[in-house]
Amino acid sequence: MKNLQSNRILSGITPSGNSLHIGNYFGAVKPQIELQHSAQTYYFVADLHALTTIHDRDVLEKNIVGVITDYLALGLDPERCVFFRQSDVPAHSQLAVVLGNYISYGQMQRMHAFKDKLQKDTEVGSINMGLFNYPILMAADILLYKPYGVPVGEDQRQHVELTRDIAESFNRTYGTEVFPLPEALIGKETGKIVGTDGQRKMSKSLGNTIGIFEDEATIRKQIMSSYTDPNRKRATDPGKVEGNPVFLYHDLLNENREEVEDLKARYRKGEVGDVEVKEKLFAAHQRFFAAARAKRKELEKNPEYIRHVLSSGAKKAADFADKTLAEVYKVIGIYNKLN
Ligand code: TRP
Repeated sequence: MKNLQSNRILSGITPSGNSLHIGNYFGAVKPQIELQHSAQTYYFVADLHALTTIHDRDVLEKNIVGVITDYLALGLDPERCVFFRQSDVPAHSQLAVVLGNYISYGQMQRMHAFKDKLQKDTEVGSINMGLFNYPILMAADILLYKPYGVPVGEDQRQHVELTRDIAESFNRTYGTEVFPLPEALIGKETGKIVGTDGQRKMSKSLGNTIGIFEDEATIRKQIMSSYTDPNRKRATDPGKVEGNPVFLYHDLLNENREEVEDLKARYRKGEVGDVEVKEKLFAAHQRFFAAARAKRKELEKNPEYIRHVLSSGAKKAADFADKTLAEVYKVIGIYNKLN
């Protein structure tokens, strides 16, 4: 039972850090923003999901404001996309309470996020229930909007599969088709930009990021300290371009293709030093994000505008979500002759 008529897609962004980096941008934000033009998009900031890890009010506020401002600065267009905060639409929490009844404890125990946590530092008895239930809230986020697709990173594939399982189980229980089954839309680049350590995925907690909105000195430092080709000792040694993070970043954000090709050719022959390659990368970064950085400065001066975007997004989202919730309440018997 596929949802072929709909071209609606939905995705959530957990505000787990306070500013986006180029790994977030090329891995997630850019593809999401491009989809605004070909699909009906619902994007929201999953502020309730952030509670699994953030119990400091000021940090949470900073992260929420940061990620919303970053998305708007990077080109999310509230005219094209329904952009809202999860907590502004109570139906997310309400549906989550219902959906927990159509999934077993055993299936929940197989979720990677939960299992990873167990392996790391925690014994099972002390896992916070918000973390354990996280995939149920995520299923509610998704199913409320009956999307055909959910653009996410590879790490979220299992959650979308669980969402399908919950939807199927619900539909089967009531002999209904209330919930079309959503597909995970996972691009090949999605979420896989390597960090400046050249080893692991770019991630704030690993300290291997290149920022977007930080001051120039910080970004410059991040770029200048990036890993390149570890086997190359001198600028006159022939170097490797493939798999070299600095060239990967050039490919992503240096729009001067001629310059990039020239640098690669000289690098392979041992005719250019790392410093020049990185200086040019820094300059390319400045060009690439100039408009977004200027827009962010404007947005910072205009919280009234952002509040307006969020409240009108929440209204549109709630229009849709409340209808689905009413359908569900009716199917399960919560709406009945006394309503
Ligand atoms: N769990 C997702 C992440 O960490 C964020 C998220 C919450 C989400 N609800 C969602 C993504 C619904 C897609 C759909 O990246």
